[in-house]
Amino acid sequence: PPDAPIKMDPFQTVAREMKFLTGNIRQLLGSGHPTLDTVAKYYTQSEGKYVRPMLVLLMSRATALTPRSSKEGMRSGSGSVDNSITDTRILADDNPDTVQNPISSINHDAAYTPEDSDILPSQRRLAEITELIHTASLLHDDVIDHSVSRRSAPSANIEFGNKMAVLAGDFLLGRASVALARLRDPEVTELLATVIANLVEGEFMQLKNTARDEKNPAWTEGTVEYYLQKTYLKSASLISKSCRAAAILGGSTDEVVEAAYLYGKNLGLAFQLVDDMLDYTISGEELGKPAGADLELGLATAPLLFAWKEDKSLGKLVGRKFSQPGDVQKARDIVSRSSGLEQTRALAQEYVDKAIEAISPFPDSEAKNGLIEMCTKVMKRRN
Ligand code: FPP
Ligand code: MG
Ligand code: MG
Repeated sequence: PPDAPIKMDPFQTVAREMKFLTGNIRQLLGSGHPTLDTVAKYYTQSEGKYVRPMLVLLMSRATALTPRSSKEGMRSGSGSVDNSITDTRILADDNPDTVQNPISSINHDAAYTPEDSDILPSQRRLAEITELIHTASLLHDDVIDHSVSRRSAPSANIEFGNKMAVLAGDFLLGRASVALARLRDPEVTELLATVIANLVEGEFMQLKNTARDEKNPAWTEGTVEYYLQKTYLKSASLISKSCRAAAILGGSTDEVVEAAYLYGKNLGLAFQLVDDMLDYTISGEELGKPAGADLELGLATAPLLFAWKEDKSLGKLVGRKFSQPGDVQKARDIVSRSSGLEQTRALAQEYVDKAIEAISPFPDSEAKNGLIEMCTKVMKRRN
């Protein structure tokens, strides 16, 4: 049929921009201290999924075609930013290697003139910043979770120890903050700074695990809401606020900025729901990290919370965080006999539908199709 949706490879749509991403991130992470340099760049060696930068780039392109805001002229981030000078300054100040080699500048600034692409230099830099913040959170997360592997290799805490992994994460946040400040957009700075705080809030909610105590008969119901709030903070905040920031940097109208945010929020929630489902359904080999880790960590995620509504005996196990011998297996059996996994998938699908709905007013474009295809990919992903 002529109106069948065109299948887009979202990666292809922004492939040119993505090609430079890792190299630019590595440049932002250069340190004169050789060990810090190695630890900070460790997770840039393995191929990540780059979901967040890809979303920022796609959103930047998709919103470039929408109406312009009258505030646009007032924004410093929406014009062409002379990134090469500021970036060289980062490197010259901080990295002795590049003082001797002043030619090394950020790739995309050298490779593109503004006419080359509808993506602004500030939006490309935003894509890099989102990946830096995400990677910082992974460095800290792997310490908190006692992880042994990530992206099919030993995790940084195993390779370098907890102290260096934590400090490297802090260093990434520092460099992300410098890059953010150099975008010279206070609203975007505030958004991404809020994301960093939200990540910590989400992680704290997860440490506490449940909102109410076992003696309260309403706590089964309450925990799903608590889980979703935690999930927003831990996963959807970065995706939603960076989509919002991409639209702001592009000079979009308030309506478009809000639509970009809603797309990111709903996709982010779906992304984490699928993640929590895969923890039950996929082998560790395919995941590139140990499977079934959540129950071992004492975490009750969506599949279990839905199962709990059908089988109240899970409450006892949740209350003691699956800590007694046999608890994890017992919980796993109850979840697989329940409709918990099905309900988790259905909820993720609802969020994905909302994400697509949010951007439906955008004019048709390759990038918009890419954003829609990202939703399909999230539902189909196996790692
Ligand atoms: C991965 O979750 C972790 C996160 C999405 C965020 C973790 C946040 C912190 C550790 C707070 C500190 C934040 C910063 C910015 C330094 P997961 O453990 O469920 O997933 P995994 O299976 O990939 O480890
Ligand atoms: Mg983890
Ligand atoms: Mg974790």
